[in-house]
Amino acid sequence: MNSLSRPAAFRRALLAWYRENGRDLPWRRTTDPYAILVSEFMLQQTQVATVLSYYKEWLRRFPDLATLAAASEREVLHAWQGLGYYARARNLHALAKTIHRQGGPFPRDPAELRGLPGIGRYTANAVAAFAFNQSVPLVEANIARVIARLFGMQEPIDTSKGCENLWHHAAELLPPHAPASHHSAMMDLGALVCRPRVPQCPICPVRKFCRAPNPVELPRKKPRPSLEHCREHHDFIFHDGRILLEQSQTRWRGLWILPRRARARTSAPALHVSQFPFTHHRITLAVFPASVRKQKRCERWFSLPDLESVALPSPHRRALTTLISARTQNSGNPKSKLQNHRS
Ligand code: ADE
Repeated sequence: MNSLSRPAAFRRALLAWYRENGRDLPWRRTTDPYAILVSEFMLQQTQVATVLSYYKEWLRRFPDLATLAAASEREVLHAWQGLGYYARARNLHALAKTIHRQGGPFPRDPAELRGLPGIGRYTANAVAAFAFNQSVPLVEANIARVIARLFGMQEPIDTSKGCENLWHHAAELLPPHAPASHHSAMMDLGALVCRPRVPQCPICPVRKFCRAPNPVELPRKKPRPSLEHCREHHDFIFHDGRILLEQSQTRWRGLWILPRRARARTSAPALHVSQFPFTHHRITLAVFPASVRKQKRCERWFSLPDLESVALPSPHRRALTTLISARTQNSGNPKSKLQNHRS
């Protein structure tokens, strides 16, 4: 395995660059472990630009662990609405309840945090480094790309060997003190300079340390299974200013969606068709008009103002916004307030 001969010189060059060019992000201005935990949960699978507005609003609504622990699942899912991957919100909520129930201080030891709901090696170490100033290594997507290029790693980073090598190299680069700036600098180098498709090598502050023969070809990953396409059919049942929704028991457990229909309708064209990605699927959402029918157990009627405080996944929220506004415009009513939604 390659190793870097002068890690201290690498860190000096990296930090000098970071002081001039680093991003000013709100979770870097705090050492509150709860706030850092929130940011790290949100940043799993979501871009920094999207997280920024959710993070501030979340801390306004749930300023500390005790407030989050006392909140209902409905409030939590509603605040998460639009960020996607709702398991993160459920895990964060479960975690707040667990730590709050234990009654002691926030766990400082990453080993204690690991294994709690939604916490793996990365999140446990991120809290330890950013909140408690512990020198522990970190590897997330940006850092992984920087390390893979810096060390010219040829093994795919999404294999267990590749992953272990990344953590090993992250530990080699780690400073004995002030880990937070080091990690933030590595992330920012990945986000701003060592970019995935167009690496900015001519302006890279650590170029002389880099072993990538052709950076754009790294990191290597295992070949991905191709996207599976599927089509899902839903009803639009709007009556007397109210809309019928179903509480999902499956993909969006706990969130409200347009009622599912088992079969496609061939007699009427779809009112709305859109596509969205979900893990390795590309899903086509087709919504058909339907008349009022007997309500099932998992279904409820909502008035339009009520919809504001209900958690809907973004693809369904967008479909509803379009359908309701077309319907209310046709009938001369004012536009639906649903459009105020963030995502
Ligand atoms: N991605 C994951 N954690 C992050 C952090 N703390 N700052 C910026 N990007 C991140």
